[in-house]
Amino acid sequence: MKIKLYLAAATLIAVTSLFILSCNDARPSEESDTPLTHSTPESEVARGKYLVGIMGCNDCHSPKRMGKNGPEVIPELLLSGYPSDRPLVQFDSKLIKEGFAMFYPDLTAAAGPWGISFAGNLTPDETGLGNWTEAQFKKALTQGKFKGLENSRMLLPPMPWLNYAEMKDADIHAIFLYLKSIKPVENSVPPPIAPEAM
Ligand code: HEC
Repeated sequence: MKIKLYLAAATLIAVTSLFILSCNDARPSEESDTPLTHSTPESEVARGKYLVGIMGCNDCHSPKRMGKNGPEVIPELLLSGYPSDRPLVQFDSKLIKEGFAMFYPDLTAAAGPWGISFAGNLTPDETGLGNWTEAQFKKALTQGKFKGLENSRMLLPPMPWLNYAEMKDADIHAIFLYLKSIKPVENSVPPPIAPEAM
C-alpha cells in the first residue's frame, strides 16, 4: 500500500516537472517582454472608435434627431458637424450678453460670449478632414488651432481641446485612423459668427 502511494507521488512529481519544463521550453526567452497582442490597423480603428465614443466627440460633432429617449445620432450623418443646410434660428442675444450660453438641441452649434460656433465636419470628405494630415489633426486637438495650421485662429468653445492637450500620440493616431475610415459626408460647416454680429 505504502509503496503504491510513493509510486503515485513520484509519478505526480515527474509529470508536474515535465509540464513545467515544457512550458519553459515553449517560451522564447528573447521575446518574454513583448506584449501578447500586437496592434493591427483594424484593432487601431476599433480603438479609435472606442475613444471617440467615450470622449464624447459625437455629443457635438454628430447631428441628431429626436427619438423616444431623447436626441439620437443620425447614422448617415455621423460626425459630419453642424449641417450647413439647417436654417439658423433667430434668437434674442440679451441672455447671452448677460453671460449665458445656449446650444442647439443636438449640440452641433453653441452661442455664448464667444459668438456662435459650429462643430466641424470630422468625416474624410474634402469638406471635412479629407485633406488633413495627422500632424494637423494633432495640432488642432492638442493646441486648439483651427484646421491644425500654425498661424490659424484658436478654436472656440465649446470644443474642449484643453482636455485633449495631453493626449498620447498612439490615441491621436487611433482616432485619426477611425475618422478616416467612416463614411465621408459633404458638409461645409459655416464659419463662426462674431459676438458683435449676433
Ligand atoms: C462640447 C462640444 C464638443 C466636443 C465634445 C468635441 N468638439 Fe470638436 N469642436 C467643437 C466645436 C464647436 C468646434 C468648432 C470650433 C470653432 O470653429 O472654433 C470643434 C472643432 C473641432 C476640430 C477642428 C475642426 C476645424 O475645421 O478646424 C476638430 C479636429 C475637432 N473638433 C475634433 C474633435 C474630436 C476628435 C472630439 C472628441 C475627442 C471633439 N472634437 C469633441 C465642439 C466639440
